[in-house]
Amino acid sequence: MTSTQAPSSANENWGSRIGLILAMAGNAVGLGNFLRFPSQAANNGGGSFMIAYFTAFLLLGIPLMWVEWGIGRNAGRYRKGHVPGMFAALWKHPAAKYLGVIGLTVPLVVMIYYTYIESWTLAFTVFSATSDYFGNNTQEAMVGYLQSYQMIGDDSVHGMWKPFVFFFITLVINIWVVSRGISAGIEKLARIGMPILFFFAAILAVVILTMDPLTPGGPSPADGLNFIFNPDFSQLSRPGLWLAAAGQIFFTLSVGMGTLQAYASYLTKKDDLVLSGLATAATNETAEVVLGGSIAIPAAVVFFGVAGAMQVASSGSFNIGFATMPVVFQQLPLGNVLGVMWFGLLFFAGITSSVAMATPIVAFFREEFGIRRETVAWGLGGVVMIFGLLQIFWLQYGMLDEWDYWAGTFGLVLFASIEVVLFMWVFKPERAWESLHQGADIRLPRIFKFVMTYITPLYLFTILVWWGVTDAWPILTMEKTPGGAPPDPANVPFVHASRAILALIVVTFVVLVRLAWKRNRYDDRTGFTESITGSAQ
Ligand code: PHE
Repeated sequence: MTSTQAPSSANENWGSRIGLILAMAGNAVGLGNFLRFPSQAANNGGGSFMIAYFTAFLLLGIPLMWVEWGIGRNAGRYRKGHVPGMFAALWKHPAAKYLGVIGLTVPLVVMIYYTYIESWTLAFTVFSATSDYFGNNTQEAMVGYLQSYQMIGDDSVHGMWKPFVFFFITLVINIWVVSRGISAGIEKLARIGMPILFFFAAILAVVILTMDPLTPGGPSPADGLNFIFNPDFSQLSRPGLWLAAAGQIFFTLSVGMGTLQAYASYLTKKDDLVLSGLATAATNETAEVVLGGSIAIPAAVVFFGVAGAMQVASSGSFNIGFATMPVVFQQLPLGNVLGVMWFGLLFFAGITSSVAMATPIVAFFREEFGIRRETVAWGLGGVVMIFGLLQIFWLQYGMLDEWDYWAGTFGLVLFASIEVVLFMWVFKPERAWESLHQGADIRLPRIFKFVMTYITPLYLFTILVWWGVTDAWPILTMEKTPGGAPPDPANVPFVHASRAILALIVVTFVVLVRLAWKRNRYDDRTGFTESITGSAQ
């Protein structure tokens, strides 16, 4: 077995530790923190949700963060930046690489709809700067404005071209960054984007939290904070709450995707991973809970009260961010500046995440087929463009929800369950533990080894089974939609088509993985040879 086919240009490394942490944090901090988190929290009873959320953070989020960094760096020794190669490095069995296909499918699928949503944030940044939506000062009017942009409702407000143009621009920027590589592209973007994002978020949090109630004695920002942060035990017996909280932890930390692993594969044996992984998780949680929690929910509560905010959240996951916030900004001094900050911060949060989704896919084609990075990047852009157009046309028929459910929700938990077993059980706890601690700045208390070996897998399997029975099965058989409502018969053919495309993507990757292994004559039983120039040397 040789890996002589791999071009030497596949050698890449992070420029600096701070750059790495910013890029990892950029990967994790995304639309999930500022859009998905507030609607999930509001939809699931605020204070109750947060208890389940922190439990999942401790027992799933942090341990999986380390597992993924460990899997990624271990594969870096063999110059593998994609999950099929990473799994094969852990388990010398022909099936390993095929299990890894999930680590190509999920990031590609999520990247497609995620860049589309990201393009709305770019559009709304422009609409804020030009005060385009000003005058739509009720929630209903703003939802109408948003839907017109999404081509769901009356398209006379925006005309048909805007979603396409903004999607195209967003995609081109993404691909351009990716084509420049790890340190000159992704790391540089994070160095610029992350400080801007935090700066805008901090200003908005201060503006919102110091807002006066609209009428004396009316709801204040503090009521919003109370709603999320007052522990409430009343709903904890509801399984759906625990599932939603775990789902949010996965999505927000980017675990169960293949992207953290891909970033970690560019680390060396001398690099610390324990402290850096923890720093990434902590940065993400600060952005989510402190900043994400202080903007959208308190703003919605001041305007609509707690009950109203919950209702807005349940009316659609994007309504708080794209309808309520613009209504709020119109009432505040310098509203369009605030709007630019809000949508601008969402754009930077989004783009530092979407470039991460491209990374494992680019690595796969470069490392296994020897294709140049620029070529892979623009080729990927073409694929995302085609399926993205479909997303634009079929948004109204539930395609985005369908993909978000199977790839962005269920797929993450499935992937995480597989990887934790491979790393902690097949690769063995002792080796996993040792590999995590190579170059480490701190040593973890041994209790975490126990958690990672037993508790995390058990927690994951419980979720998987529970979810399988209560959600995945009824959704698969179309008794209900991912949103909970029964499916609209008119959407059924589109749901079938969306699923068929998903299946086609999986099959394509299976074939490509098989071809790659043949082409490079990898022997599943002996494993890869360590790369002399590999990053772990
Ligand atoms: N964590 C990102 C967010 O919060 C989404 C993401 C998921 C990014 C998986 C990369 C991989 O929006």
